Amino acid sequence: MDLHPNIPLKNFTTMRLGGPARFMAEARTQEEVAEIYHAAKSQSLPIFVLGGGSNVVANDQGFNGVVLRVRIPGFEVIADDPGSTTIRVGAGETWDETVKKTVDMNLSGIETMSAIPGTTGAAPVQNVGAYGQEIADTLQSLTAYDSQTDSFVTLANVDCGFSYRDSIFRGSQKGRYVITSVTLKLSKSAPQPPFYDALQKYFDDNGIHAFTQQIVRDAVIDIRANKLPDPKLLPNSGSFFKNAIIEEWKLNDLRVSYPDMPAYDMGDGKFKLSTGWLIEQTGLKGQVLHGMKVHDKNSLVLINESASSYTDLASARDEIISAVRDKFGVQIEQEPLEI
Ligand code: EPU
Repeated sequence: MDLHPNIPLKNFTTMRLGGPARFMAEARTQEEVAEIYHAAKSQSLPIFVLGGGSNVVANDQGFNGVVLRVRIPGFEVIADDPGSTTIRVGAGETWDETVKKTVDMNLSGIETMSAIPGTTGAAPVQNVGAYGQEIADTLQSLTAYDSQTDSFVTLANVDCGFSYRDSIFRGSQKGRYVITSVTLKLSKSAPQPPFYDALQKYFDDNGIHAFTQQIVRDAVIDIRANKLPDPKLLPNSGSFFKNAIIEEWKLNDLRVSYPDMPAYDMGDGKFKLSTGWLIEQTGLKGQVLHGMKVHDKNSLVLINESASSYTDLASARDEIISAVRDKFGVQIEQEPLEI
């Protein structure tokens, strides 16, 4: 276990911005996670846990502590019954490799979350989701290092406090746990309609009427390739904003002026708006602000075209948030975590 000094965070986040980490360390086992915490504690340094850096933006000051990269490997079947297979995956495994392996095993439950960048251990933090599935639907439990009690714990699904793009790991217990493995219970049944609208449209357009996990995975990869820029070529953090959640009265109010505003009924008196649509209506789609481009195929995504600092990104973000607030009276929020 080594602490490497003065490592530029822009090389470890897909937005490619941010100052230096005072130290960076890699953990390949759960014991190494504990060792790194002990080392940091002995020097009174804070820790920030980084996965693939695809949902994190780093500020220009960098991080005056230890950035811990979790590289714990592993993929094993831990239970198998007639209807389902349960797998345990190391937190450091690439998320899309995990999806690919389960699709190759004809398992269903995470196939529409294909081609999402990042690590498996990071997926529960923001309750990753796409095309009608989210990890909360299949996650049975996870193991983690609890830095508060200096012990390893198993948390059941209900303990994780999942909601839309949220969990205790970025909310009430932020900074407490380091996820070391994730246990998913996946179905042996083939995927069945109804599918999420964009996916159903793709199937209709391409004359696809029979479904396997592989067919669904291939469709999602194709849809995403057209709408979401590849972070290896165009630096970005996926959706930069969350879809806004509003009360029914507010939606009714907005629909008077904007009858076509897309909204998804969450079933609890609240409605999810398409923040991409809101941003598009302000006229900012395709525009470049402070070197950050509002992606011309999906306004939820910001691409770092020529921003030289986090300050540029923050200025662009704040202008977009203000434009949406001024036009609709809706407060939108950043999705990626901040170092
Ligand atoms: N829309 C617009 N203009 C835009 C973008 C979207 O009008 O510029 C409209 C679309 O026409 C559609 C609606 O907004 O009616 C929803 O769009 P889409 O299905 O593309 O999904 P999204 O809300 O933009 C969310 C997730 C994505 C996920 C997709 C598919 C969030 C913050 N984003 O995007 O997740 O892949 O659904 O399920 O929930 C991510 O989190 O990084 C991410 C990419």
